[in-house]
Amino acid sequence: METYTLNNGKKIPKFGLGTFRVEAGESAYDTVKLALKIGYRHIDTAIMYGNESDIGRAIRDSGIPREEIFVTSKLAKHYDGDIVLIKEALDKSLKTLNIGYIDLMLIHWPDHDHHINDLIWKIFESYYQEGLFKSIGVSNFQIHHLENLLKKAIVRPVMNQVECHPLLSQVPLQKYLTDNDILMTSYGPLARGEVFTGKTHEVLEEIAKQYGATVAQVIVQWGLARGIVMIPKSVHEERLIENFKGQELVLAPEDIEKINQLNRGRRLYSDPDNNINFL
Ligand SMILES: NC(=O)c1ccc[n+]([C@@H]2O[C@H](COP(=O)([O-])OP(=O)(O)OC[C@H]3O[C@@H](n4cnc5c(N)ncnc54)[C@H](OP(=O)(O)O)[C@@H]3O)[C@@H](O)[C@H]2O)c1
Repeated sequence: METYTLNNGKKIPKFGLGTFRVEAGESAYDTVKLALKIGYRHIDTAIMYGNESDIGRAIRDSGIPREEIFVTSKLAKHYDGDIVLIKEALDKSLKTLNIGYIDLMLIHWPDHDHHINDLIWKIFESYYQEGLFKSIGVSNFQIHHLENLLKKAIVRPVMNQVECHPLLSQVPLQKYLTDNDILMTSYGPLARGEVFTGKTHEVLEEIAKQYGATVAQVIVQWGLARGIVMIPKSVHEERLIENFKGQELVLAPEDIEKINQLNRGRRLYSDPDNNINFL
C-alpha cells in the first residue's frame, strides 16, 4: 500500500478503513477480516467505538504480520485530567486490542481547558517513549488548540484527524498542518450522505462519469491527491472494494479544483469549538 511518512519517520498507509458505528462483535470482526483480505492495511478505531477487541482479534487471526498493519485508536474521555484514570484507559485500550502496540494514538477531542490537553499529551509522550504507541497525534484540533499544545509538546503530533469532505474542505487547517509538519486525516468523507444529494452530487457525479468511477471513489482520490489520509467506513464487501479501488483513480487538477469549489464550510459532525465533547 502507498504510504505517507510521518514527521517521526514512521510510515502510514494513505488509505484505511474507518470503523465508527461498526458494531462490536462479529460485525467488527468480519468487516476487518474482510477488509484485510481485500488489501486494507490501515484500520481506524477508537476506545469509544467499543470494537477494539474484535478488531484486535481479526488482526491476530488474519495471519498478516503485525508490522504490516497500521492501527489507530483514540482517547475520548479526559477524566477531568485525572492521570491515574487516563492511564487506566490507555492501558485498557492496549490490552483490549491485544496487538502488542498501537501504531497511532490520538486525543479524540480537544479539551476546552488547554492545560488538560497538555497533561494528556505528556502522558501520551511517555507511552510513545516506551514504544507502546509508535506515533501520537490529535483529532478535532483547531489551529488554536494546536498552537497551545505545540508550546509545551516535546514530541510533535504527527497527525490531526478532522472532519473533511467536499462540503468542508479544510484548506486553511491543512495549510497550517503542512507548515507544522503534521499530516491530516479526513473523517466523514461522504459527509453523512450529503455528497449523494443536490448540487454537490450533480458536480461529483459528472466528474465520476468522466472516469467511469463512482462518487465515493472520486472523493477518496480527491483527498489522496491533496495529501490527506482517507478512511471511509463500510461494512459491505462491494463498498469496501469500491472505496479501496478509489486509490487507483487519477483525477485531473481541474476536477480536483471543481471539488474544492463545493466547499461551504458545512459541518455534519460536531464543532470542536462549541461542543465540550462530540457525543
Ligand atoms: N476522529 C473523529 O472524531 C471521528 C469522527 C467520525 C468518524 N471518524 C472516523 O472516520 C471514519 C469515516 O467516517 P464515517 O464513518 O463517519 O463516515 P463515512 O466514511 O463518510 O461514511 C460512512 C457511511 O457511508 C456509507 N458508505 C460507505 N461507502 C460507501 C459507498 N461507496 N457508497 C455509498 N455509501 C457508502 C456507509 O454505509 P455502510 O457501512 O452501510 O456501507 C456509512 O453509512 C469513521 O468510521 C471513523 O473511523 C472519526
